[in-house]
Amino acid sequence: MISKYVFGEPFETEAIVVDIEETKGTLPYFKQEAGAFVLDLAEEDIVYGLGEQVRGINKRGWQYVSWCYDNPHHHEDTRSLYGAHNFVIVSGSTTFGVFFDYPGKLTWDIGYTKRSLMTVTPEKMDLKVYIITGENEKDIVKQFRGVIGKSYLPPLWAFGYGQSRWGYKNEADIREVAQNYEENKIPLDSIYMDIDYMEDYKDFTVNQERFPDFKGLAQELQGKGVHLVPIIDAGVKIADGYDVYEEGVKEGYFCKNADGKDFVGAVWPGKVHFPDFLNPEARAWFGKKYEQLTSQGIDGFWNDMNEPAIFYTEDRLAETLEKVSTLTSGNMGINEYFAFTGMVAGLNGNEGDYDKFYHNVDGRMVNHRDVHNLYGMNMTRSANEALSRIVPDKRTLFFSRASYIGAHRYGGIWQGDNKSWWSHILMSMSQLPGLNMAGFLYTGPDMGGFGCDTTEDLMIRWLQYSLFTPLFRNHSCDGTRMQELYRFSTKAIMGEMIKIRYALIPYLYSEFLKARENDEMMFRPLAFDYDDDDTRQVDDQLLLGGEVMIAPIYKQNAKGRYVYLPEEMMCVRMRGWNDFECATFEKGHHYINADLHEMFFFIRKGCAIPLVKPVMSTKDIDYSTTQLLGYEASYVLYKDDGISLNNDGKLEMYVLE
Ligand code: NOJ
Repeated sequence: MISKYVFGEPFETEAIVVDIEETKGTLPYFKQEAGAFVLDLAEEDIVYGLGEQVRGINKRGWQYVSWCYDNPHHHEDTRSLYGAHNFVIVSGSTTFGVFFDYPGKLTWDIGYTKRSLMTVTPEKMDLKVYIITGENEKDIVKQFRGVIGKSYLPPLWAFGYGQSRWGYKNEADIREVAQNYEENKIPLDSIYMDIDYMEDYKDFTVNQERFPDFKGLAQELQGKGVHLVPIIDAGVKIADGYDVYEEGVKEGYFCKNADGKDFVGAVWPGKVHFPDFLNPEARAWFGKKYEQLTSQGIDGFWNDMNEPAIFYTEDRLAETLEKVSTLTSGNMGINEYFAFTGMVAGLNGNEGDYDKFYHNVDGRMVNHRDVHNLYGMNMTRSANEALSRIVPDKRTLFFSRASYIGAHRYGGIWQGDNKSWWSHILMSMSQLPGLNMAGFLYTGPDMGGFGCDTTEDLMIRWLQYSLFTPLFRNHSCDGTRMQELYRFSTKAIMGEMIKIRYALIPYLYSEFLKARENDEMMFRPLAFDYDDDDTRQVDDQLLLGGEVMIAPIYKQNAKGRYVYLPEEMMCVRMRGWNDFECATFEKGHHYINADLHEMFFFIRKGCAIPLVKPVMSTKDIDYSTTQLLGYEASYVLYKDDGISLNNDGKLEMYVLE
């Protein structure tokens, strides 16, 4: 059952797509104290959810802030990342779900100030709170997902391997990547284009000198089953003669200052205006611009910097430079030095800048701060809604950096600027259940790590985890060690891991379709399916779909790891897609060995999964090569044509024996 409680005058976020009648009366479970909602937590209570946040699957023990933020430092003490996913399930003494539908800043103190309290504080008391009760955690998620709308469905090719790098500068760089994967016989479905493809970082432009035949390049690669996926940034460069800038100014489609002038921030292109994605007309206008690239053969995009990220504003920069000049005029003491570095670092993503601009919502000027967390969602919505009209017969790939619940209907998200750290394998995995709870099924991390230099062993172990996530992309930051797989001496091992992924794609896609159709989670904590005390403690293993449990190795030099089996399961240890052995293990704690070139996962008791012969690109997947792996059992395979925009009526189900 879902009950809705309304406080003050909430902004309509469109997270919930079903009419739910308001329940009058006091909110159950919580006490209302000094502008906050306070819940008593029993010692055994676990708090699941919050989507894209740091720390473990159980969010208890830290303070998190829902405030979409361009934060490349995903540390244990980080409070905000790119997404705002305000849905949690409290599980234990009583079990219920709660969604705080509030698009401004929301603070979650989950046993941080006091272990036995969860305190949720919106900046203003204008919000809707939904309480969801049900039979168990899975039922609560299903009900919640039922009211937030179906998750975005990407094309099948988006389940293939993607190579990305900030730094591919011209056609030759892109061709070199494609050619090396081909020569090394490592499957590949997409190459991502970061900001370097643009003309002066102007959205929807292509640098003609460096990409003289962009359309030809896109076609040539598609012929090999490789899709080019360009980035689009939120900020529109202020530049005379640039259509997006000039039209946006003329039509009043950019966010405004209090005095009605277009707000100016600075991002990659230098000075920019921000499209007012909360204004439906501006949204439709910006969305149509994607056609400038789809008309050249592009069928996928990643939307970036849409928190929106602001490196600086003119006013704050001027103010800072003035203060800095007073600090630096004399002999800089230690206090001045720290004030100086703090001020300069504080230019980026400065919260005060978000108070300075406004959105036009049905003719009403709404201060950005109050609706901050909706910006990225509405950018992806703009692209998705426009392209559904422009290319109505096929799916376009979209994923975004910033998001709010509701954004899961328009695209996926990637998990942002992680680092080439062992701990970030686990961080990515810990976010999956919370993201799935909030409807984000198409997701994954920058494999190998975005910031810092990766290593061969980290890359291999990361592949062994990531080969299960729907988004399977290797991306890295300009200036870090190059991490295309063919550059490593262990490329043969890496290639085998990619082939295992391709052998599993029919299974992964099928489980994705089931999760989408049935409003279920593709990745679940073990305790959502099994009920014993040990299971509730497990935070580095996940159930995948109905048949699999993953338990990746995420520690440097580890040649195995401890795994908890909540019942008998079959361990599949693979060196290659057809080089593996299976062994059953009893319920309990086990140490499973796996050298660097081996990955393992578990098939649940009485289950089997399909495996196909790997191919170089998803376009060649041959379902007739399917064999079943696991126990003597059948498997219900979901499948569609992998490309039609809505798979309504096109979903096929087969029982594989
Ligand atoms: C920030 C994004 O998170 C990252 O993936 C990208 O490479 C850079 N922007 C440059 O566009």
